[in-house]
Amino acid sequence: MKYIKFILIIFVSLIFISCNNSKTSTDTNINANEGAFIDSPVKGLRYTTDKLSGYTDDQGKFLYMTGETVSFFLGDLKLGEAIGQKIITPLTLNKEYNLNNIGIKATNIARILQTLDNDPLNGAKLVINSELRNLKISGLDLKSEADINTIITKAQDLTNVNYILVNSTMAQNEMKNYLEKHYINLTRCVSCHGQNFEKKALQQSLVVKDMTKEAVTKALLGYKYGPQSIMKSQISFYTDEALKNSGLGTD
Ligand code: HEC
Repeated sequence: MKYIKFILIIFVSLIFISCNNSKTSTDTNINANEGAFIDSPVKGLRYTTDKLSGYTDDQGKFLYMTGETVSFFLGDLKLGEAIGQKIITPLTLNKEYNLNNIGIKATNIARILQTLDNDPLNGAKLVINSELRNLKISGLDLKSEADINTIITKAQDLTNVNYILVNSTMAQNEMKNYLEKHYINLTRCVSCHGQNFEKKALQQSLVVKDMTKEAVTKALLGYKYGPQSIMKSQISFYTDEALKNSGLGTD
């Protein structure tokens, strides 16, 4: 009987050890966070972090470990980088927040992505053709109109598609429309509310992370439609949909 117990213990231990072993190879992915690259969601953009790499999926999703910087590439041209977060946009890559005043580099990234979209009729997402993974365009300047044209010409050589470069106003409007409808830019909030909404903003507000979702939505809509206030100027340009989907507060 003792022997049987002994053998059982060894057997069970072995099972545990082998389970643990098989886990370690996928540990990185298990602990990874999901973010999305959005102009509209962009599919087929290469990304790298210290530990992870891949191509964004049809919802623009990429993976990163907490605290990692994520770099995005078109072919071998680096579009930019940002600390890993839920939503990264051409603005985030340039440390910009204001959708009403988009800088030239962020605008040009949007123009390129919208121009190279495989399926221009599907406004819901931008698809970068997988043939463009081999695009050799490093060393070009995303602020230069001539270089933007070079990128489009080289892309054309690879895919044989006749691209028509989207102009700045159109590109900005398309990006703005999508982002305003769908997302609040939470990086605008941290200076007052703290990185995780754990502070009382300007010693005045409630701690937002402890509020319910319902209370947060009610507060945000209240500010938008209420009298002039600090918060109104922060959020009045967002759609109701974006305010309802802030992702803030507890269930
Ligand atoms: C300049 C500082 C500042 C910034 C930036 C800011 N807030 Fe606020 N926020 C405040 C203050 C002050 C209050 C409390 C004001 C009040 O109740 O009238 C507040 C209140 C709130 C509340 C309601 C909490 C309560 O006390 O009822 C929410 C939710 C909120 N903010 C979310 C946000 C979000 C989301 C952003 C970013 C888009 C943001 N805030 C940006 C200062 C700021």
